[in-house]
Amino acid sequence: MPLPKTLTTSEHTDIDLKLVDGQWPDGISGEFVVVAPGPKTDDIGYQLCTEGHTSRLSLRPGTDGAASDRFAWRARKIRGPSVRLFEECRDVCTGGPAGYMSPFGLLNMANTAVMPWGDRLLATWDVGRPVELDPVSLEFLGEVGSKKSWGPSIPIPGVLPFIFTTAHPVVDPDRDCLWTVKLSPSADHPGHVETTVIRWDGESTEVRTWPIIGAHFNGTMHTITQTRNWLILGDSGNFKPDPGEMGGGERTVLIDYESPLFLVRKDDLESTPSGQSVPMKRFMIAPPTAHFYAVYDDTDGIRAVFENMDLEDLAIYHKPGDLDVYGDPIDPSQLGLYNMAMAPSSFTEVEFDVETGKVHGRAKLCEDWTWSKQLSAMDWSPAGLSKPTVHHQLLHGWRPHNVSRRALEIYKERVDPDELPSDETPATLVSMNRGSLDVRSRYDYPSTDVLPSSPIFVPRNPGRDRFGLEGSDPGGHDGWVVVPVLTDSGLQIDVFDADAVGKGPVARLAAPNGETVPLLLHSCWMPRAVPAPEAERLRFADDFEETDLALLDDRLKDAVHSVARDLDEGG
Ligand SMILES: [Fe+2]
Repeated sequence: MPLPKTLTTSEHTDIDLKLVDGQWPDGISGEFVVVAPGPKTDDIGYQLCTEGHTSRLSLRPGTDGAASDRFAWRARKIRGPSVRLFEECRDVCTGGPAGYMSPFGLLNMANTAVMPWGDRLLATWDVGRPVELDPVSLEFLGEVGSKKSWGPSIPIPGVLPFIFTTAHPVVDPDRDCLWTVKLSPSADHPGHVETTVIRWDGESTEVRTWPIIGAHFNGTMHTITQTRNWLILGDSGNFKPDPGEMGGGERTVLIDYESPLFLVRKDDLESTPSGQSVPMKRFMIAPPTAHFYAVYDDTDGIRAVFENMDLEDLAIYHKPGDLDVYGDPIDPSQLGLYNMAMAPSSFTEVEFDVETGKVHGRAKLCEDWTWSKQLSAMDWSPAGLSKPTVHHQLLHGWRPHNVSRRALEIYKERVDPDELPSDETPATLVSMNRGSLDVRSRYDYPSTDVLPSSPIFVPRNPGRDRFGLEGSDPGGHDGWVVVPVLTDSGLQIDVFDADAVGKGPVARLAAPNGETVPLLLHSCWMPRAVPAPEAERLRFADDFEETDLALLDDRLKDAVHSVARDLDEGG
C-alpha cells in the first residue's frame, strides 16, 4: 500500500481523542507537541515547504475544553510575518526548492521541529529563524533575534531575511542559552557555505555571532548537537542543493558518501567577542546523516549516536509522472512527499578524538528490517542527555510504492533494483541500548496501511530539574513512548512502556469521527503547557527599515504595514 492518502490532503484540525484500547497510564503527564507542514498545495511541488502548523496533545484527559474522558489535540497555524504576508499576497510568492521566494524575501515557514526551553516553545526549520510560540494557544509570539543581529545568509533586498540555518538548535543547560548556526555562501570556496555559530540568551532581540574558521562545505546543516564543552556541527549530506534542478532541470546531484563535522569548543566562543572568528576541529563521518545526538557529559570522551540516512535522499520528492518500484504510477496522493529509503538505515555510536581528528566507531545496528529511518524519542532532561540508556527509533519500513524509478535511475550506481526486497514491510518502533546499540525491544506494526510517526519519550515522575524534564530514573527507559499513528481512517495515538515497546501499545487513543491529520514532522514533550513567560520579543515592525520596502509597489507596502500592525495588536 502507498502511505495514507491523507498525508498530503488533510487539514490540521482540533480533535478530542478517546481511549479505544488498553489502559491509560496513571503516571503519564505533560504535553505532546508536534509541528508539520500544511497539506499539499498546487503552487509548490514539495510538501515539506508549506506553512508550519503546531499541534498539542495533552496527555491528561479533560483539558482545553475537551470532555472529562477525552484528550485534547489542538492545532494552530504558525502565523508569523511570513505566513501572514503569504496569506495576503500569495500571487507574488513563488515556490522553489528552498520554499517560497517573494518580493518580501524568503518566507519563514517554521514547519520542521519544535523544542521547549523551560516553559517557552520554539518552532524551527532550516531556512529561517526559530519562532517562539505560546505553549497554550500556540499563537506566534516572535522570531528569534533581529534580522540585523543575525545578518543575512544571502543579502537579498526585502523585509524578510534569507537565512540558512539548522532545524535543530540546542539549549545549553549550563550557559542558559540557545546555540544555533547560520550558513552563508563562501566567497573563497565556490559552491560551499561558511558556518557561523549563533547564540541567543533568550532575554533580548539580539543574537551573537562567531564565524567558524575553515568550516566550509557543500551541503546543509539540519542538526547540531552538544556536549558540556563542545558544539558538534554537521553537514547533513542528504539534502544537497542542485543548481541544475534550481534552474529548472532534472536533479542529478547525489548525496555524499561522507560528510564533514566541525567541533567547536564552547570556551573558545565564550572568550571571543561576537563577530570575531573561532577555530574548530574537522572530522569526516559516513554515511550521511540527518540526526545525531551527543552524550552531554564528555568527561570520558565525546560520544554521539548517529541516525544515518543510507540512500535516503530528502531532496528527491515525487513528481507527476513518477513510477514506483513496480512500474506503476506513484499514487497522486503521494506527489510532493519525499522519496523513501533505497537501502536499510544504519545507526552508529561514535567517539571523537579531538587530538588526532579521528572518529572511532563504537557500535552499529543495520538489519534487513531497519528501512526508512524516520524520527526518534529520547530523554531530553540534562540528566538523561548526560547518561542516556535507551534510544527509541521509529522506522517506516521498505516502501516500494513510495520509491520512484526516477530516484533509482539517479542512484543506479549505488542501488541494484534486483536486490531490493520483493514485498513492502510495515513500520517498526525499536529501542536500542545506548553504547552497544543492541536491540532492547522492538515492535513491528501489524499493517502497512498505517504510518506511525514522530515519537516522544515521557519520563515517569518528572520535575526533578529546573526544566521539569527529569524523571525518577533518567536515561530513556523509565516512562513511556508516545507515537502518533497516521491512517486514512483517523488519527491514533499509541502509548508504549518505554522499557518494553515490543509488548505493543499499552493504550491507544483514536479520533472518534475518523478525523485525520497530514504528515507530521518533529515532536517534543513538554512537562506542562502554561502561557509563555514575559520576555522582550522582536516586533516585526522593528525588524525592517523603510528602505527594505523600496522595491515593493503600494499594495505590497500596505501589506507589510498591515501585517506589522496586526501582529502588534494581536490580531
Ligand atoms: Fe530533523
